[in-house]
Amino acid sequence: MEKIKAMITGVQGYVPEYRLTNKELEKMVDTNDEWITTRTGIKERRILKGENQGTSVMGAEAAKGLLEKTNTDPMDVEVIICATVTPDMPFPATANIIADKIGAKKSFSFDISAACSGFLYALQLGAQFIESGTHKKVMVIGADKMSSIVDYQDRTTCILFGDGAGAVLLEPAEGDLGIRDAILRADGSGEPYLHMKAGGSRRPASHETVEAREHYAYQEGSTVFKFAVTNMADVSAEVMERNGLQGDDVAWLVPHQANKRIIDATANRMGVGPEKVMMNIERYGNTTAATIPLCLWDYEKQLKKGDNLILAAFGGGFTWGAIYVKWAYDPK
Ligand code: UT7
Repeated sequence: MEKIKAMITGVQGYVPEYRLTNKELEKMVDTNDEWITTRTGIKERRILKGENQGTSVMGAEAAKGLLEKTNTDPMDVEVIICATVTPDMPFPATANIIADKIGAKKSFSFDISAACSGFLYALQLGAQFIESGTHKKVMVIGADKMSSIVDYQDRTTCILFGDGAGAVLLEPAEGDLGIRDAILRADGSGEPYLHMKAGGSRRPASHETVEAREHYAYQEGSTVFKFAVTNMADVSAEVMERNGLQGDDVAWLVPHQANKRIIDATANRMGVGPEKVMMNIERYGNTTAATIPLCLWDYEKQLKKGDNLILAAFGGGFTWGAIYVKWAYDPK
């Protein structure tokens, strides 16, 4: 019997309205538009403003739009997985809150934490619920309110991150369409280079941790950069090789949007031209778990049934991976 595969049958994104531009950042820290643009490719990022507005607000907006677009009754959604490192709170899971907001009352839902690779981890996990034959409608969300953990006094990180959410629906696939292969990796020895020092069980919140500004994302940028360039390119090349794909066979590279230079290096290694690389870093910055679904959402109208996509990411953990997807539908 042919193995059941999972395919993406819809994608939707959500970004908040407020635009934090490079010009505005110049007034906050010692930086400039030229440095940010040449070193990262970022021009502006979106920021979720307002009291009591957590990641679930953006995740639920993306999820609601996805239900509408795919004509899906929320009661038919069986599983919701939300990848995030900025949950509304340590518990309950942001996915539980999103499920409630969209009326998915018959679903079970949970979060996963794999930083910038979170969406890829969640996508592979979600696909396996379909592949096992036990579930038929799985929603996978990548959402992060990075502005809640960014230190706007630290010029090395505050220029990088933005807020946003993206969601896809997974259903059983037809023919050879859908999620074809995944390689996911992790190496916890990367912790010193990219982490949040306090607020967990090792160093719970205290006056001391707040005063020491330990509740913000800490990154040793150049070290992370080196690991990101090598690992994202290697794993993308590996998934292509394993599936007999050459650069010409790939219609789109869908890379995590951390730095334009990392994306260019990955595309180069894969033999994929710049015209086939999804890029929206200039408008949204690094939205962590949301970058890949936000790219799919932005480029959805250009995607054709049967297109070979390579989704690739690298991030905190370290975590990284690449997923080979055969796109399942033409523009609607
Ligand atoms: O998504 C999760 C994974 N994260 C990543 O993949 C991010 C990986 N890292 C990067 O993208 C890059 O390392 C950064 C964009 C964060 C930094 O770029 P870089 O080319 O690695 O710069 P650097 O950290 O080596 O710093 C170069 C110089 C330093 O000055 P000196 O020591 O040469 O005088 C920094 O102090 O640039 C300085 N600098 C800045 N100057 C103006 C650092 N940040 C800024 C800034 N504006 N915002």
